[in-house]
Amino acid sequence: MSLQLGDIAPDFETDSTEGKIRFHDWIGNGWAVLFSHPKDFTPVCTTELGEVARLKPEFEKRGVKVIGLSVDPVSDHRRWAADIEETQGAALNFPLIGDPERKVSNLYDMIHPNANDTLTVRSVFVIGPDKKIKLTITYPASTGRNFDEILRVIDSLQLTAKHQVATPVNWQHGDDVIIVPAVSDEDAKKKFPQGWKAVKSYLRIVKQPQ
Ligand code: BEZ
Repeated sequence: MSLQLGDIAPDFETDSTEGKIRFHDWIGNGWAVLFSHPKDFTPVCTTELGEVARLKPEFEKRGVKVIGLSVDPVSDHRRWAADIEETQGAALNFPLIGDPERKVSNLYDMIHPNANDTLTVRSVFVIGPDKKIKLTITYPASTGRNFDEILRVIDSLQLTAKHQVATPVNWQHGDDVIIVPAVSDEDAKKKFPQGWKAVKSYLRIVKQPQ
């Protein structure tokens, strides 16, 4: 069965462009994004990795480490890094796992045989400080991901882990949020003393807690 939200992200030891990594130790006490791409020296993947390198300060601001993976060996990742820097104007600044034996790819179900039986799809796992999986997204090889969306989801995950709120459609950091239904109006008065707008009894809009 594939990994589901709330499962512990499986631990593993692997080779990467930044040396041997034991995954849970590497994550430490913060958040992590583990993402796969299908193949080195391919166009969409080149643009994605450049973008993740450019966005690294945004991930760091949120206490998130980022790590990529493909079934190519680390030696290929290292050669490809020069192309990424040359074409995307951003040097690889996070580790890339080399997984030619498909150890991690299989552990995380990143190979979808009916799409391609040898290459990883574009999987994304967001992992919390408790090492549990908070989010999974899967894109096909033909579609590059929107990493701004991944940052947006991380903002929501981190906010909703701390406060009893949920984020509405198309929410962006700083927008109003929703008081979760599990909080009674009585409890909501204590948690949100500034008040809220009840559009319906179950749809209570409140300013984003800081
Ligand atoms: C790409 O990154 O462009 C790509 C990789 C594998 C299959 C198709 C496209």
